[in-house]
Amino acid sequence: MTLRLQPLDASGMTIEPGQFLMVYLLGIGEVPISVSGIDDDGTLSITVRAVGAVSRAICASTPGSVLGLRGPCGTAWPIVEARGRHVLVVAGGIGLAPLRPLIRAVLDAGGAHTGLTVLYGARTPADLLYRDELTRWAEAARVAVTVDRADSSWRGQVGVVPKLIATADVDPAATRVYMCGPEIMMRLSAEALIARGLSSDAIYVSMERHMECGVGWCGHCQLGPTLVCRDGPVYPYSRLAPLMEVREL
Ligand SMILES: Cc1cc2nc3c(=O)[nH]c(=O)nc-3n(C[C@H](O)[C@H](O)[C@H](O)COP(=O)(O)OP(=O)(O)OC[C@H]3O[C@@H](n4cnc5c(N)ncnc54)[C@H](O)[C@@H]3O)c2cc1C
Ligand code: FES
Repeated sequence: MTLRLQPLDASGMTIEPGQFLMVYLLGIGEVPISVSGIDDDGTLSITVRAVGAVSRAICASTPGSVLGLRGPCGTAWPIVEARGRHVLVVAGGIGLAPLRPLIRAVLDAGGAHTGLTVLYGARTPADLLYRDELTRWAEAARVAVTVDRADSSWRGQVGVVPKLIATADVDPAATRVYMCGPEIMMRLSAEALIARGLSSDAIYVSMERHMECGVGWCGHCQLGPTLVCRDGPVYPYSRLAPLMEVREL
């Protein structure tokens, strides 16, 4: 579910694509959720998958409900790195949510980039996010969508996201990659891109870990020597590749 939030007091709050908010419901709990839309009028969007108590309660909100927001937290997508280059977005499942403001910013920036490619996969056609926008983005960018399991209505591609990498038009020296989704998808996609000549410094990934404080105090989100809430969630792949090889880290 995508919710549009009108901050009651947003004074001094500047949010960048890739950052997340700690979203809380009094008496229920607090969870990290990426910002999936940042509008000029100050409206923010979040896209939430109901998996447990807090996310279910967020999805049960109705117009006029009040949510608590703490943030913005964490690192942003380094969009400036992509100026004058091709932007390749690789997303799996709900991982498209934190990439949506980046895609919008790239499209709004007109000729600042040499092009945009979006590779997106979901488990089934029913799990695809932002279907209308995917169609609109395809007017100005190359958009390839795949599903793990098709249904009788699906006429598109079937297979996992890393398979789409082979079809992407990639100039290794002039491309920046922004990736979010299941870790196995990100690792296989990054390896496929590196095999095609991209540097691991040209690839940025967004990581997920269980979070409590969201600001580097409690240690719950530790990933090797880093804290995902403070040093991430967006990292250069060159920093994460050795950590992603360690099982259960
Ligand atoms: C930086 C960051 C950004 C995030 N952005 C988003 C976002 O934009 N949208 C969004 O929907 N979620 C996002 N998440 C994940 C979200 O925080 C969790 O889904 C949420 O904390 C679950 O809390 P809960 O109380 O609803 O469920 P819990 O009671 O904590 O979990 C219920 C069940 O779901 C499982 N579970 C928990 N999290 C996930 C998950 N991510 N995937 C699959 N199963 C899970 C648990 O293992 C448990 O079995 C983000 C997480 C991080 C760290
Ligand atoms: S969530 Fe507390 S240190 Fe990251």
